[in-house]
Order: sequence, then C-alpha cells, then structure tokens
Amino acid sequence: MNSSQIIATFGEFFERRGHRCIDGGSLLPPPGDPVLFTTSGMHPLTPYLEGKRHPLGRRLTGLQRCLRTTDLTEVGDSTHLTVFQMLGSWSLGDYDGPQSQRFGLELLHDHFGLRPELLHATAFGGNAQIGPDTTAAETWADLGLPVELLGEEDNWWSNGPTGPCGPDSEIFAWTGTGPPEGSPGTDERWLELWNHVTLRYERHPDGSLTPLTQRSVDTGMGLERLVMVANRAPSVFDTDAFAPWLPALPALWPQLADPEHPRPLRIITDHLRSSVVVIGDGVRPVPTGRGYVLRRLLRGALTELWRADPGSPLTLGDLPPEVVTETADQFRQPGEPAEVRSVLLAEERRFRQLLSRGRSLLARLYPSGSLTEADYQYLHDTHGLPRELVTDVLTRMLAG
Ligand code: ALA
Repeated sequence: MNSSQIIATFGEFFERRGHRCIDGGSLLPPPGDPVLFTTSGMHPLTPYLEGKRHPLGRRLTGLQRCLRTTDLTEVGDSTHLTVFQMLGSWSLGDYDGPQSQRFGLELLHDHFGLRPELLHATAFGGNAQIGPDTTAAETWADLGLPVELLGEEDNWWSNGPTGPCGPDSEIFAWTGTGPPEGSPGTDERWLELWNHVTLRYERHPDGSLTPLTQRSVDTGMGLERLVMVANRAPSVFDTDAFAPWLPALPALWPQLADPEHPRPLRIITDHLRSSVVVIGDGVRPVPTGRGYVLRRLLRGALTELWRADPGSPLTLGDLPPEVVTETADQFRQPGEPAEVRSVLLAEERRFRQLLSRGRSLLARLYPSGSLTEADYQYLHDTHGLPRELVTDVLTRMLAG
C-alpha cells in the first residue's frame, strides 16, 4: 500500500463510522499559541477540544503536517523525522477512549494487515495526582493485546505548557526480524505507532489541572511510520514518502550512497525535506524563532553534506525542481521551486561565508586546536558555528 492508499483507507474507515474529514492546516499555529510549530494533529482543534462546537460535528478525522524539534537528535535512525504527517481521529465529547481503541485495532488489523501478535499496547500507570488508566488497560486486554503500564513521561499527552491534556494509550508495532521480544518499555524494536489520548484535563499557567467538562479523544499516527510498518520496510526512508529525494541526493553526491552508513543521507534527506515544507509555509531563515529552526535544519544538512563530500562543487541549487514539487504535492502545498531554490542558495551562501570567517577565527584563537566546552559554546552562541563544523574545521586545520 502506498501513502495515498493508506491516507484514503484511513479517512474512509473513519468516515464510514460517522467522522467528517477536516483539511490539514499549516505548520504555523495561530498567533498567541504557546508553541512555535504545530506538533500534533490535535493542535488546530484546541478550542474544540476545550468545548467550543465544531461546525462539522463531534467526530472528525484528518491529516496534519507536523514539526517536532524534540526529535532532532534522533533523526538519522530508521524512524524519527523532523517534519512528518499525522493521521488523526477525534471524538469531541462523543465516544470514549475504549471505543477509540477498538476502532484503532480494527483498522490496523482488518485494513492494514497488521497482525495482533505483532502489536503491543501501553497505558498510563498513574502519578501522584492521577490514578492509572485501568479502563484503557482492560480494554486492550479484552481485545487480546498485551499491555504495559508506563509513567507520565511515556503515557501522558499535552501539546504545550498549557491547554487540554490527559493520559494516553499507545499501540506499538514489532519491527524486529524474529518473533516479538520484551515490551515497548524494554525493547526499542517496538515502534510507537498510534497514540490514543483521552483529553480530560486543562492545564493552567500555574501548572494546576482542572477537569474538562467535555471529555474528548484525540488520536494521532505518523503516516510515514504506518507506511513503513504496513509495507514491512526497514525504515521510513524506504517508503514512497521519500521517493523524490532518494535517489536524487546520492545521484548528486555519490559519497552519500553508502548502505553501511545510512545516517548522513537520512539526516540530509530529513532536514532538506523538512526545510522545503517549512519554507512552503512561509518561514524564512532568520536568527530567532521559527526561522532559526529552519536555519538549523539547513545548516545541519549542509554540515553533513560537506563532511560526506568535502570537495563537491555542487550546491543546493543543483537539487532537481521535482524534489520540491513532489514534496509540496505530498504536503498539499502550492510548491514554488524557484522561490525555494533562492532561499536555499542564499542560506548556503551565508553559511559558506560564516564558515570561512570561522576558519580564520579558529586559526587565530585556537592555533593549538584544543578547545574547552566553554569555547565550543562561545563559538556556537557568538559566531553561529555548530560544534560538528568546528570539529571538522579543526581536524582539517591540524592535518595541515
Ligand atoms: N496528540 C497525540 C499525539 O500527537 C495524539 O501523539
């Protein structure tokens, strides 16, 4: 099943069960929102999850583009992405958590072919304020899934410092080669797939919780992960979500085509694809806020690229326009390759200049090449030089 078939199957499943499809919105939340980027499908629905009436009713489904900087350090493995798409379903004060869990298992098993013996669930095990979610745990047990109770860190959802929140219950899929082992809390081969949250509380600026009068259900599942699991692909990068990027990047920079060391290519692919989507939503690289996230993504991609292929005369301007148009299509953006190209090229030029200043700076300030933690911090904060780049420059400087 390709991504489009999976999106259609998900939407039809929920529409046949009374849900109306909502259009996914921009990565940029509305003004005054406590987060920089939309990190979850529920984000644009916050007022409705707090009790406002939604014009399309109480059962909704949709696909939302999301960006998570919390996962940035993990990007490069087989499943983490900065920008991704989230399939979601919502009950705004309508059905409860167990019904959502039943829908979830039915869809994964009957429509995506995921065998229950390769699935595992987790549920909220309670904390000092709130008891364990025994209803969720019993429902999974009735449905025949093994369930593990975990703490607040794993099984409590909130979208930001304030707003609707509550215990969640997650479905994991086994991605190992042999039969399943351990549990999501003990074995990383269990991949988090679909999160079912029962939004029961409102968190206030002083950190206190009050019960919401309307109890809602919010679910979210990463599209790229589902495509990976449904097709038994070894990573999200081996799915059609990345078809325009792979093989375009190794065709330009052949050193990236190293199946033994996929990390650099995955980081570059993730960061450039994410940048294209962020630019498509109107963000430009600047030193603060959203624009700084974009700058970090682009500089991170360039750092990896120049490390992998230091002598290449090519620039980001050599990327084929199709990677932009096809990515924009996937994310339902207009897609303007010429505009994206000029943003990428301008940022690359700026970074090259910074780097050449960095080289003179390092030669002058640290001729011995030995730097303390504080020196790295200073170079990063004051001169915008990322640690990896400083290390690379020093290695070359000391080599002669
Ligand atoms: N809001 C929940 C999440 O993003 C479903 O995991």
